[in-house]
Amino acid sequence: MGTRKKVLVTGGAGFLGSHLCQRLLADGHDVLCVDNLFTGTKDNLEPLLGESHFELLRHDVTFPLYVEVDEIYNLACPASPVHYQFDPVQTTKTSVHGAINMLGLAKRTRAKILQASTSEVYGDPEVHPQTEDYRGSVNVLGPRACYDEGKRCAETLFFDYRRQHGLDIRVARIFNTYGPRMLPDDGRVVSNFVVQALRGEPLTVYGDGTQTRSFCYVDDLIDGLVRLMDADNSVTGPMNLGNPTEFTIRALADEVIRLTDCGSAIVARPLPEDDPLQRCPDITFARDTIGWEPLIALEEGLQRTIEYFRSVI
Ligand SMILES: NC(=O)c1ccc[n+]([C@@H]2O[C@H](COP(=O)([O-])OP(=O)(O)OC[C@H]3O[C@@H](n4cnc5c(N)ncnc54)[C@H](O)[C@@H]3O)[C@@H](O)[C@H]2O)c1
Repeated sequence: MGTRKKVLVTGGAGFLGSHLCQRLLADGHDVLCVDNLFTGTKDNLEPLLGESHFELLRHDVTFPLYVEVDEIYNLACPASPVHYQFDPVQTTKTSVHGAINMLGLAKRTRAKILQASTSEVYGDPEVHPQTEDYRGSVNVLGPRACYDEGKRCAETLFFDYRRQHGLDIRVARIFNTYGPRMLPDDGRVVSNFVVQALRGEPLTVYGDGTQTRSFCYVDDLIDGLVRLMDADNSVTGPMNLGNPTEFTIRALADEVIRLTDCGSAIVARPLPEDDPLQRCPDITFARDTIGWEPLIALEEGLQRTIEYFRSVI
């Protein structure tokens, strides 16, 4: 265990944020979780709420925040299409105003700050797998743009604050991550399939199921975020964090059906607008600079996720 730091996690009551808070507490830090509980829940923080080094503050990051901290992980932002398209203007505000407010806080406190960016900055990519220097192919006008463009603008702000104010920044481009504490109704593919299977319903596959995704288990992803934050300050990113092993959506559905032993059928539905056909990270940069790569295989991660959903639905 190193020195105890005061660490702020925005979006800390969400899926990734709650696991990150747990990891930072286990590493011996004081953790301040800031969340407006839009998609996050106190249930996610249930194991942490009694801990003396943990604090939850209900706050919307689109408003300034005045606290004293050493490090900031900026995760606040709904991540699944159903939630970020519910109020797209608020989604853009959360990414852009949220970034400005957190960067302002980092500037005042001289805190190190990490942005949870996303593979969505690559849009529907023309190169495969995606390396960090690929500039992306995003539809500026589509229904996903509030999220994609909001995140792109946040990255710009991070690099401008570094150039203009010398901030110690980190930008992680997170690819599909799954695990316990995903919301059962958030429309993300892993939670969708697992919940449908456990309810004995047919699994819904959009399109013909040949589109591929890479799935990273949450513990691996959190380890990547912490390593990136702890890296030398020349390592700003952007850095891809995700699992480079690709699966088709159809193969994922088959695996969920096998592991849950549910006997569900698979039904096809039309592909939503702007849904990328192929998405896979090149993680060479993460391997070489922070010695990170995912360790948990899909089967093991799915088993843990299925166990969690069995206990909540
Ligand atoms: N899970 C993934 O696969 C994935 C992939 C790429 C990027 N990310 C990024 O990681 C971060 C966390 O994602 P997640 O999967 O845990 O999603 P999530 O929806 O579970 O968590 C987001 C959290 O942010 C909070 N929040 C939203 N708007 C807020 C606001 N204005 N003020 C304060 N809090 C606010 C929500 O209540 C929630 O607790 C997001 O920034 C997301 O864009 C996640």
